[in-house]
Amino acid sequence: MRVDDQSSAHRAPDRSSAPATGHATAVAHPNIALVKYWGKRDERLVVPRTDSLSMTLDVFPTTTRVHLAAAAGPDTVMLDGAPAAGQARRRVVAFLELVRERAGSARAAVVTSENTVPTGAGLASSASGFAALAVAAATAYGLDLDATALSRLARRGSGSASRSLFAGFAQWHAGPRAASDAEADLGSYAEQVPVGALDPALVIAVVNAGPKAVSSRAAMRRTVETSPLYEPWTRSSADDLVDMRAALVRGDLEAVGEIAERNALGMHATMLAARPAVRYLAPATLSVLDAVLHLRQGGVAAYATMDAGPNVKVLCRRADAERVADAVRNAAPDAAVHTAGPGPAARLLDGDGR
Ligand code: PMV
Repeated sequence: MRVDDQSSAHRAPDRSSAPATGHATAVAHPNIALVKYWGKRDERLVVPRTDSLSMTLDVFPTTTRVHLAAAAGPDTVMLDGAPAAGQARRRVVAFLELVRERAGSARAAVVTSENTVPTGAGLASSASGFAALAVAAATAYGLDLDATALSRLARRGSGSASRSLFAGFAQWHAGPRAASDAEADLGSYAEQVPVGALDPALVIAVVNAGPKAVSSRAAMRRTVETSPLYEPWTRSSADDLVDMRAALVRGDLEAVGEIAERNALGMHATMLAARPAVRYLAPATLSVLDAVLHLRQGGVAAYATMDAGPNVKVLCRRADAERVADAVRNAAPDAAVHTAGPGPAARLLDGDGR
């Protein structure tokens, strides 16, 4: 089926009259949640149980090129120079199927993606990866989507990817309880959130760059199904979201950090109480958490957050980032330490695509 066939029975609300460019390259950056996403309401549609809020980073971009073949056939997926296999390949192909269905196209794709973030290490390579893939694939297949619609699409690849469409700080809405799939899909999107005078940095301590033992997908499912702490955390997280938005508008870094730290520790508590427990935190993680406490006792505003892995991201003022990085290196001598600031929105690269 041709992508410009407007009479197609496959026509979806997102369907555009824009012709497929046939190829596009996009770049997206990872994001770190300050109010976490942990648990799905709908696994297939990737609709979360709670809203989340993140900072897009200015480091570790993913660049993804999508080139359409002339006809149907198996997709080619290259990740960091090697053919993707297993689950990684299945997720990309399933995402391409979704885009093809919306575009009314059967053409296979060649996807080439280069990550600069250690894959699978709890540093959200899936967020930058699926945000870049959403932008590149939508353009190549001729879907003319705005950032909100792209965030809905990216969400289907990886929930946290919905937030990487936006520069700076973004909130991903769970959306209202919906009567239909279409309504649930429409209600769950990300948008940029306003911030006051804030000059934040995230000092990232990569204490282990290897892939995680339990995927976030499996870990959050187990937490939702078995953890007695899960429901209470969803309620306190809803409060955290409201408090976080207010603290961001005030430009109150101390409050932003306190809320982020308590939200992350609460999320890890829900996992520790799952049956069997999911524990991502390693001894080096705890050493960094001690160093963060010590910094605060010394008057430095520093607050920790951790995702589905042992790595720690320390929120602080940009002016304090060097001091914080030194303290983190002392606490975890084997860790690779990076400093990030608020990063840009996902975008097409010039000269390829629109
Ligand atoms: O989108 P996923 O499946 O990679 O889940 C990410 C979940 C956390 O990173 C732990 C929290 C978050 O909101 O990013």
